[in-house]
Amino acid sequence: MRTQVGIIGAGPAGLMLSHLLHLEGIDSVVLETRSRSYAESRVRAGVLEHDTAQLLTDTGVGERLRREGLVHTGLDLRFDGVSRRIDLSALTSGRGITVYGQQEVVKDLIAARLAAGGEILFEVTDVSLDGIDGDTPVVRFKHEGTIRELSCVMVAGCDGFHGVSRPSIPSSARRTVEHTYPFSWLGILAQAAPSAHELIYTHHERGFALHSMRSPEVTRLYLQVPNETLLDDWPAARIWDELHTRLATNDGFTLKEGPILEQGVTPMRSFVTEPMRHGQLFLAGDAAHIVPPTGAKGLNLAMADVRFLADALSTWFRQGRDTGLGEYSARCLRRVWRVQHFSAWMTNLLHQPVDADEFSHRLQVAHLEYVATSTAAATTLAENYVGLPLDWGSRVDMPARPPVPFA
Ligand code: APR
Ligand code: PHB
Repeated sequence: MRTQVGIIGAGPAGLMLSHLLHLEGIDSVVLETRSRSYAESRVRAGVLEHDTAQLLTDTGVGERLRREGLVHTGLDLRFDGVSRRIDLSALTSGRGITVYGQQEVVKDLIAARLAAGGEILFEVTDVSLDGIDGDTPVVRFKHEGTIRELSCVMVAGCDGFHGVSRPSIPSSARRTVEHTYPFSWLGILAQAAPSAHELIYTHHERGFALHSMRSPEVTRLYLQVPNETLLDDWPAARIWDELHTRLATNDGFTLKEGPILEQGVTPMRSFVTEPMRHGQLFLAGDAAHIVPPTGAKGLNLAMADVRFLADALSTWFRQGRDTGLGEYSARCLRRVWRVQHFSAWMTNLLHQPVDADEFSHRLQVAHLEYVATSTAAATTLAENYVGLPLDWGSRVDMPARPPVPFA
């Protein structure tokens, strides 16, 4: 088998990259370990930044998103039993977010790629990379019982945190920076109408809670729990009790309950591998970085990576210039670290630290009060949450003026 770009992983990163390359007339083959039905049913994130939603629409895969996605112009910060709305759109000249399940994005992209004649091989096994340091990298794998070789010009490692791409880079040629948070999220999907129109991020002395949603009939809810929490210790009644306690307000908010459709415990970590390129292998998405889910950034950062990569690959294949490829890693990492900081900032602002005391609690509440009342502070949250423009970091927003001489 031969192709221009071998893509490992049919998650949001791999599928969007294949789609963007197709639009540029560049062919690719996507290799995926899981079945199509598994890939399309995995419950993951659910918030699209402004530019991610725009990208899906602008590249012709946003029809169902426009029909079913829930556009939000604000979110609530809830602390001391009071909800304070952050008007995201007013603070960012009309930008907002769209609530739309990641598995829906995956479904739409798989359908679009297959309809366009794209090649996605599901249920591959024994994937390995060879020759990524040279000009003719090869991806070996087994599919339908047969060992196959895919000769490529470039390889994109979009196979997530547990994939084979990152480990294919010699450890001497890469470095990782990571942080494990001292708590996890217990998440549920409930067959219940959302209890509010927008997302509610709650700071509470018993721990963080988040009210999100997937549709007018399905609510998505999360609780901060200790690491190593076992789902068996959290029967439905206990989950709902804790959610009622943490989300309670003094203005009569009522949390609607319903059958729990799905539940899980997710550890919270920050992780970055640098550089995101080695020879002809380019890492994108969770293969290169992980962020805590508080900022709703994982999917969106993956989309930003592959937009940079598709742009760089298009310049290479169409003009023979490798400037974009040469700048790919640095360009991505500038945004990755901005998003790592924002995700860590929101996580530390809203979660109870393990050594919580009166002082840490009062500092968090004072910071939340500042974000809820200062336009400058609220803009910091809003512009990061809706997503900084793609060219952020390549221009100076606020050029420094020369000092005014003392009179
Ligand atoms: N070979 C082929 N495919 C693989 C391999 C492998 N060795 N290992 C993993 N995969 C597949 C996984 O089955 C998955 O479908 O690669 C895909 C990686 O997709 P994601 O993990 O979703 O990563 P990414 O596309 O970068 O999207 C990031 O997904 O996990 C969420 O929170 C994360 O929202 C973020 C988003
Ligand atoms: C979700 O709806 O799954 C979700 C929303 C916001 C977050 C994280 C997850 O910060």
